[in-house]
Amino acid sequence: MFSDTLIEKLNSASNVVALTGAGASAESGIPTFRDPDGIWKQFQPGELASMEGFRRDPIRVQAWYTARRETVLEAEPNAGHFALVRLEQRVPNFTLISQNVDGLHARAGSVCLLELHGSLLDSICSECGKDSEPFDVAVDAEQPAKCECGGLLRPTVVWFGEMLNPSILERAWSAAAEADVFLSIGTGAEVHPAASLPLVAADNGAYVAEINPRRTAITGIVNEEVSAPAGIALPAIVNALTAPVT
Ligand code: OAD
Repeated sequence: MFSDTLIEKLNSASNVVALTGAGASAESGIPTFRDPDGIWKQFQPGELASMEGFRRDPIRVQAWYTARRETVLEAEPNAGHFALVRLEQRVPNFTLISQNVDGLHARAGSVCLLELHGSLLDSICSECGKDSEPFDVAVDAEQPAKCECGGLLRPTVVWFGEMLNPSILERAWSAAAEADVFLSIGTGAEVHPAASLPLVAADNGAYVAEINPRRTAITGIVNEEVSAPAGIALPAIVNALTAPVT
């Protein structure tokens, strides 16, 4: 499934970075975006993940994010999430960069975590920017959820056409540039700037391994392809590491 080289590289690495995408949560029952049964095969991203779509139909968008929040709160972290927690405990400097907005890495216990695309679990006012309690809106609601200032509430998920949080992106970029080993896990690597991070790592000499049952946009540049689901590959990789010297 994976090479001895990957294990040797991880055993001797000072800096390890893992980038996760929707595939890392697939085994928790959360759908990915671009697989055949993915979210963006059923819904238009412009309607549900853009400011224009939100302004056109705020109740529909708030109801859709309310339902997604309920789905992720009912889900549980899987063996891949827990293996990444063990990897963090094993490596001197470990950074987990996630494109996922489901909060499952934090619930599993990952600490050095950069959530590049925000969170389904946090809400803010789209006008004044104030943090708010998560909104709870049904599809047939008569009014959208609003802030006390009258602005519409939205999740902190980064939508198409929006900038990522610059300080989070900068930390992710630096971690990728300094990585000895970079693991790209369960992402189709089609959405930038996240998809540039494995390339930044490769350009700076990292050993880049991809963990994904299917080929992706970056498979051609990686050092190693681990063609297996994350919930199987990650525990096996972490189990193969030698114990740290105490
Ligand atoms: P995609 O849906 O584009 O890609 C999911 C990847 O996960 C695919 O390459 C699958 O082959 C792989 N996969 C599926 N099951 C897997 C498993 N069990 N183990 C490992 N890999 C598996 O999702 P992302 O790359 O995450 O943006 O998409 C990037 C961004 O596009 C998302 O963050 C989202 C979306 O619009 C926001 O939410 C802001």
